[in-house]
Amino acid sequence: MRNKCPTVVVALIIVVSTDLPTASVSVSPHGLLYSGETVTLQCDISVYTDWTYRWYQNNQTLPTQTSKTVRHIIPIIKTGQTGLYRCEGMRTERPQRSEPSNDLSISVSALPKATLLVKPNPVYPGETVTLTCSVGSYSDWRYKWYKDSNDTVVSQSDRHTVTGDTLTISRAAESDQGLYWCQGERDSRPKSTSISQPVSIIHCLCTGSTF
Ligand SMILES: *[C@@H]1O[C@H](CO)[C@@H](O)[C@H](O)[C@H]1NC(C)=O
Ligand SMILES: *[C@@H]1O[C@H](CO)[C@@H](O)[C@H](O)[C@H]1NC(C)=O
Repeated sequence: MRNKCPTVVVALIIVVSTDLPTASVSVSPHGLLYSGETVTLQCDISVYTDWTYRWYQNNQTLPTQTSKTVRHIIPIIKTGQTGLYRCEGMRTERPQRSEPSNDLSISVSALPKATLLVKPNPVYPGETVTLTCSVGSYSDWRYKWYKDSNDTVVSQSDRHTVTGDTLTISRAAESDQGLYWCQGERDSRPKSTSISQPVSIIHCLCTGSTF
């Protein structure tokens, strides 16, 4: 008779986690960003919630930015690549840091271009002059008309009619002389065009050589 010897198997498994949680960075709005827009960057780390975030712009830390979501980080006014952004997390408990995210490249597209056409120019007294603002891309533009300064928007009057993309000045007078430009606006992105090249309207007095 064999002695049945009870066997006890003890398995001891030590799990060593070598992988730190990984951060990922995302940007909103998605897709093309337009000059003048502001973006929001968000740092996501799938595990734990008590992270303090560190942000980098072109490899430099942004010391004042420590939250998960960074808004208004770049009031975008230029076009082309504006920077590389990445984030990482830090916490007091272990793991005390995350792997940094990949660099996210932010680049900005130019606004659609507005073009102003004035006909006729120069203008003879009493004539009707038509200013047409055109934008080659997207639709649903509304147009704003400026005269001589960005603070002076041409509004409707008995002699000034705004219809669609056209500003019509009837019975042209000397006071209509000046520099005009236009800009398109709409509700969806891109929300505006660039400002058109200004066009000078010359009121021709046309009494010989007075010009
Ligand atoms: C950031 O640093 C890495 C490694 O140090 C380097 O290869 C890269 O060119 C740097 N990027 C910028 C935008 O300075
Ligand atoms: C109007 O504003 C644009 C940019 O916002 C600027 O480039 C332009 O010089 C301004 N025009 C005048 C007459 O102030």
